Amino acid sequence: MIAYLNGDFLPVEKITISPDDRGFQFADGLYEAMRAYGGVLFRADEHLDRLAYGARQLQFARHDFTTVKSIFVELLRRNSLENKDALIYMQVTRGVAERTHAFPPADTPLTIYIRVKFFSGWPDELQNGIKVISVPDKRWSQCHLKTTGLLANILAHQQARESGAAEAIFIRDGFITEGSHSNVFVVKDKKLITPPLSDYLLAGITRQAVLEIASGLKIDVREVAIPASDLEDADEVFITGTTVEITPVVHVNGKNVRHGRPGELTIQLQKEFNLLK
Ligand SMILES: Cc1ncc(COP(=O)(O)O)c(C=O)c1O
Repeated sequence: MIAYLNGDFLPVEKITISPDDRGFQFADGLYEAMRAYGGVLFRADEHLDRLAYGARQLQFARHDFTTVKSIFVELLRRNSLENKDALIYMQVTRGVAERTHAFPPADTPLTIYIRVKFFSGWPDELQNGIKVISVPDKRWSQCHLKTTGLLANILAHQQARESGAAEAIFIRDGFITEGSHSNVFVVKDKKLITPPLSDYLLAGITRQAVLEIASGLKIDVREVAIPASDLEDADEVFITGTTVEITPVVHVNGKNVRHGRPGELTIQLQKEFNLLK
C-alpha cells in the first residue's frame, strides 16, 4: 500500500512520523475520511471545505486544501484502486515542534498524511440494520471540529461493541447529539427529524446529503433537538456517515425499534442515496 506524507508517496511501512509531532503529543490535528465509489470521489469538495473550516478554527498555518484532491486521485491510481470502492483517510497536524502548549513558529510545516484502502462498507448492516446503545456524551464542547482527539468516541464505541451493539449514540443534557462516528435521524409521525447543527455535533457530509434528498422528495424535515426517549419511541431510526452511509437502527438499548426491521422511509432514502454514489 502506497501512502502520502508531506509531498512523498511511499510504501506505508516505510513512513515514519516524529514523536515530537503535535498530533502524537496533543492530538493537535484534524482528519477527514471520505469514499470513492468505482474510483469516483464522493463529495470530496465538501470534505475539504470542512477540513479548511477546522484549520481556520484551530488557527493552523494553512487553510486551503483544495489541491489535495489530485493527491487522492494519484493515491488511488498507485494502489490500483482507480476503478474500485475505496476509503480515503487524511490527517493534518500542526507539525513537529518541541513540546510546549504554545503554538510552534508560524513557518512550522503542517504534517499531512493520506492513505487509501479498498473499502466496500457493511452490506449486511445496510440491509438488516444494527443495534445501538445510548451513552452519556462525555466529550468536549467543540464536537463540530473533526479533530483527532477521539478518546471519548472510542470508549463509547467500545462499550457498544462489548454490549453486542454496533454504535453508541451520545446523549447530552437529555438530548441526542450524534453517534460515535455517525449522525442520527429519527422518523416520527412521517416527519424526518435530526438534531440541529451546533458545537456539539459534526456537520456530517452524509447528513447533508440526506437532508437534500429528503427535501427533493418533499419529506417533512425538522432539524430540532430530539429527547433521548425518542430513540426508543421512534417509528424509525437510522445513522448516517461516510463509512455507514444510511444504516437502519432496529434495536435501541435492548428493545426493538417498532417491529425491529428497517423502516420504509429509511429504505427509500437508502435507494435515493445509492443513486448519488
Ligand atoms: C462524530 C461523528 N459524527 C458524524 C460523522 C458523520 O460525518 P460524515 O457523514 O461526514 O462522514 C462522523 C464521521 O466520521 C463522526 O465521526
